[in-house]
Amino acid sequence: MTAVRMEGKVVAAAVKERVREQLEAAGNPPVCLATVLVGDDPPSQRYVASKQKQAAEVGMKSRHVGLPPTATQEEVMAAVQGLVDDPAVHGILVQLPLPAGLDDHSVIDLLPTEKDVDGLTAASLGRLVRGERGLVPATPRGCLRLLEHYGVATRGARAVVIGRSTLVGLPVALLLGAKGTDATVTVAHSRTPDLPALCRQADILVSAVGVARLVTAEHVKPGAAVLDVGVSRTEAGIVGDVDFDAVSEVAAFVTPMPGGTGVMTVACLLENTLEAARLQGVL
Ligand code: GUN
Repeated sequence: MTAVRMEGKVVAAAVKERVREQLEAAGNPPVCLATVLVGDDPPSQRYVASKQKQAAEVGMKSRHVGLPPTATQEEVMAAVQGLVDDPAVHGILVQLPLPAGLDDHSVIDLLPTEKDVDGLTAASLGRLVRGERGLVPATPRGCLRLLEHYGVATRGARAVVIGRSTLVGLPVALLLGAKGTDATVTVAHSRTPDLPALCRQADILVSAVGVARLVTAEHVKPGAAVLDVGVSRTEAGIVGDVDFDAVSEVAAFVTPMPGGTGVMTVACLLENTLEAARLQGVL
């Protein structure tokens, strides 16, 4: 079997076009996404620049607050609070990780849920656990969108998520298992015994741990859908969690890396920003 590549680029372009159209239909009100970056980590700088560039592509404004790596907890919190209090800012994204020594939870939890376009505050994640409406973390939302686009059924499916981070693993597990989506989900992690055997039970396998090429053909049930959300920086460049070539021989669907789940993140972030602006009465 040669798997179908789940082209994040194609699906993300469609999501962004829908956001652009909805803004245009509302007369292009000034919707603003603010990004906060503490420190000078080059990959984080590139992610933030890409988010701003893509916001402009759909007709959104953006604002950036950059703080030095030496910024204190109080300085970071004051900068974020300034954006919270600014009615011209509709969505706020604090790029993670923060430099060592800063407490990311207390920074993120400054955000009111209606501006929390990353869906990462305790309140937003609590809503997700309760099955209440709210802004959902962008990468998990992008994973669900890919499955939907490629017609991968979730009801009745067995899903295994490798990774239990609040950014991806836990929210994607909650979304897959939510009422209406109805997959039966198991969350695996670095201490899970016999990971390949567990993964081979999965109709939908999501890997989000950042261990280069962890998932090989022996982890994959024939005909499964495999989503790669891992990012590892190796000497050979940026590598995902999934050995794409080997897994393509067994799976029915697999995301490439790059060009899979990563590009979906920004598109879904922009969708969340549009939703945030709606919650604030802008359109
Ligand atoms: N760092 C890596 N991915 C993300 C993300 O989705 N949101 C934020 N805020 N930081 C990240």
